[in-house]
Amino acid sequence: MNYSQLVSSTCTLLCLNSCCSVILAQQPYIKKAATLCDSRDNSTSVLGYTCNGISQSCRAYLTFRAQPQFDSVPTIAKLLAVDPSQLSELNSVAQNATFDTDQMVLVPVTCSCSGQYYQANTSYAIQHDDTYFFIANNTFQGLSTCQALQAQNRNPARNLYSGMRITVPLRCACPTKNQNDDGVKYLLSYLVTSGQFVSLISNKFGVNTGNTLRANGLSEQDDTIYPFTTLLVPLQDPPSSSQVVGSTPPPSPPSYRTPPSVPPPSGGSNKTWVYAVVGVLGSLIIASVFGTIIFCMFFRKRKQKAEPASSSHNFESVQKPLNKKEDEESQDFWDSISSIAQSLKVYTFEELKAATEDFSPACLIKGSVYRGSINGDFAAIKKMNGDVTKEIKLLNKINHFNLIRLSGVSFNEGDWYLVYEYATNGPLSDWFHKIDKKFLSWNQRVQIASDIATGLNYLHRYTSPPHVHKDLNSNNVLLDGDFRAKIANFGLARSTDEQEGQFALTRHIVGTKGYMAPEYLENGLITPKLDVYAFGILMLEILTGKEVALLYEGVNTELSEMLIPVLHEENGKENLRNLMDSSLQGNYPSNLALLVVKLIDHCLKKEPSHRPSMDNILQSL
Ligand SMILES: *[C@@H]1O[C@H](CO)[C@@H](O)[C@H](O)[C@H]1NC(C)=O
Ligand SMILES: *[C@@H]1O[C@H](CO)[C@@H](O)[C@H](O)[C@H]1NC(C)=O
Ligand SMILES: *[C@@H]1O[C@H](CO)[C@@H](O)[C@H](O)[C@H]1NC(C)=O
Ligand SMILES: *[C@@H]1O[C@H](CO)[C@@H](O)[C@H](O)[C@H]1NC(C)=O
Repeated sequence: MNYSQLVSSTCTLLCLNSCCSVILAQQPYIKKAATLCDSRDNSTSVLGYTCNGISQSCRAYLTFRAQPQFDSVPTIAKLLAVDPSQLSELNSVAQNATFDTDQMVLVPVTCSCSGQYYQANTSYAIQHDDTYFFIANNTFQGLSTCQALQAQNRNPARNLYSGMRITVPLRCACPTKNQNDDGVKYLLSYLVTSGQFVSLISNKFGVNTGNTLRANGLSEQDDTIYPFTTLLVPLQDPPSSSQVVGSTPPPSPPSYRTPPSVPPPSGGSNKTWVYAVVGVLGSLIIASVFGTIIFCMFFRKRKQKAEPASSSHNFESVQKPLNKKEDEESQDFWDSISSIAQSLKVYTFEELKAATEDFSPACLIKGSVYRGSINGDFAAIKKMNGDVTKEIKLLNKINHFNLIRLSGVSFNEGDWYLVYEYATNGPLSDWFHKIDKKFLSWNQRVQIASDIATGLNYLHRYTSPPHVHKDLNSNNVLLDGDFRAKIANFGLARSTDEQEGQFALTRHIVGTKGYMAPEYLENGLITPKLDVYAFGILMLEILTGKEVALLYEGVNTELSEMLIPVLHEENGKENLRNLMDSSLQGNYPSNLALLVVKLIDHCLKKEPSHRPSMDNILQSL
C-alpha cells in the first residue's frame, strides 16, 4: 500500500467512524408519533430506543409521577416491576412511603436489548375498558407506546379482555460509544409534562442542554417536546432525589396525606380516621391562611374607602343587605373564601421566589409576569396589586381548555401573585413580529380563531353568571406548545346579569385601544357583543399578520373599511391577496379565507345586535 492509498483508506475509516458515531449518538425523539397507534413511524423511536449502545444491558433510570392508584413505593415498584428497596433508596424514602400526587419518583431499571430495541419489561393485567393507548399514555404515562405494546404482544387491540396479562416494554436506553466517551454512564427516560423545555429538564439534572438535545436527535432549531413522551437525559452520575425535590408539592398548604414518618395505626378504619382528621385540619388551615389574607385586605379597603362602591362590590358579602350584622357578613365572606382555598393552591412567597430565581430579570416574561418552575413544570407568575379577588373567583369557577387555568395564588407585602398554567409559545401578538422568520400556518390560524371563539362562547354562555371578557386582544391570547389558544387576563371581565338581566352600563371605560366596540366607547354599554367586536379585530390581525395599531394606520375611520375592496369590488379575489399576511405566500384556501373575511365584517358591525353571537361564529368556523 502506498502513501496515498494509506491516507485515503485512513480517511475512509475516519469518515465511517465519525458518520457512524453521529448516527449512534442519538435516539430520535418520539414527537407526536405515540398518539398515532395505527402508524409505526420508524423515523422516530416510537417502538423503542434502538440497541445502539456499547452494552446490551445496563442500569437506566425512568421517572414516574405518583398517581392515586400508584402512589407508594410498593405500588409503583409493582407496576414497573422494580425492586422496592432500590426504589426507596434512590428516592431517599422509607420502604412503605407514600408520595404526593404528581410527585416525581425516580425509578432504577435494568435496561436490556430485546432484538432491535432496548427495554425494561413489566407485566400488566388488563382492566375493564383498557386500550393499548390508554395503558401506554395514561397508566404508564408515556413510558411505553401503543405501538410498542402491540408489537410486543402480537395481540390485536380489539382482543383485549379484562384480567389478561400483557408485557409492557418500558422505554429505556444504554449510552452510545460517543456518550460513553463523554463520561455519560446512564440515560434517564424523563417523562415530559406540559410547559417544559429541554433546557429546563437538563438544568434540573445539571446536564448541558446541547447534550440532551443531541441524545434525542433534537437541535436548537427543532427542540419542541410534548407531554407524555420520554426525553433521554444523559447522566454522568446516578440521579438523586434532591434533583427532583423541586417536584414535591409545596409544604404549604399542609398535605392531606400523613407523612411517612407517622407510624401506621393498626386497623384500617383507624387509619381512615387519622386521614380524616388531618384532612379537616389541613383544609381549616388553608382556609384560615387564605381567609386572613383576604380578610385583612377587605377591611383595609373598606376603611380606606378610596373608591366608594366599585371596589367593595367585588365581594359578594357586601351585596347582601347592608343592615346585616358584621359578624354574619364575615361568615359569608369566610364561606366563599374557603371554597376558593380548597381548590386553589396557596403558595408561600418563598416558594415563588425559589421558582423564579428571586424574580430575576432572566425569568421575566413581560410586564410583571415571570416564568417560574414549580414541581418541575413551568408556570406563569403574575404580580398584581389592588383587588384581584374577582379574577380569582372567576378563574376558579371556570375550567375550560381555551381559558387560561389559575393554579394557585400567593400574597406578600400588599401584592398578589397569581400562578397560571404556562403557555410555551407566548402571546399571539408575538407571532405578528415574525421573529426568526417563524409564522403561523393557515391551519394554525384557523385553529387559534376557533379556540378563541370556543373560549369566549363558554364565557358568554356557560359560566354562571355569564361573563364578558372586555379586554380581548392579541396580548391576552396565549399559545401553548401545540399552538392551541388560551384566553388570559380576566382582570376586566364583568358578569352580564347584573341589574336583573339589564345589560350593565359603565362610565369607567377601560380596555385596549383599537379593540373597543363603538357602543362601549360612546355609552359604556357592556354586552357579550363587545367581545364579538374585539374578536373581529383579532381575526383581522390573524389574517393580515399585522398588529391592530398598524392596521389603523391604513384606514380613515373604521377597520371594516379594509374589507370593502375584498367584499364589494369586482377584483375581490386579488384584493384578498393584498389583505392576507404575505408570509402565507398564498398558501390558504381562498374560498375559506373569503368566508372568514365576511365573518369579520359581521363582527365589526356598528350596531351590536347586527353582530353574530359567539355561538354563531363558532358554528361557522
Ligand atoms: C422503516 O419501515 C419501513 C417499512 O416498514 C422499512 O422498509 C424500513 O427499513 C424501516 N426503517 C428502519 C430504519 O427501520
Ligand atoms: C421482554 O419480554 C419479551 C416478551 O415477553 C421478551 O421477548 C424479551 O426478551 C423480554 N426482554 C427482556 C429484556 O427481558
Ligand atoms: C395521556 O394521559 C394523560 C394523563 O392521564 C392525559 O391527561 C392525556 O389527556 C392523555 N392524552 C391523550 C391524548 O389522551
Ligand atoms: C414503614 O415501615 C417501618 C419499618 O418497616 C415501620 O416502622 C413504619 O411504621 C412503617 N410506616 C408506615 C407509614 O407504614
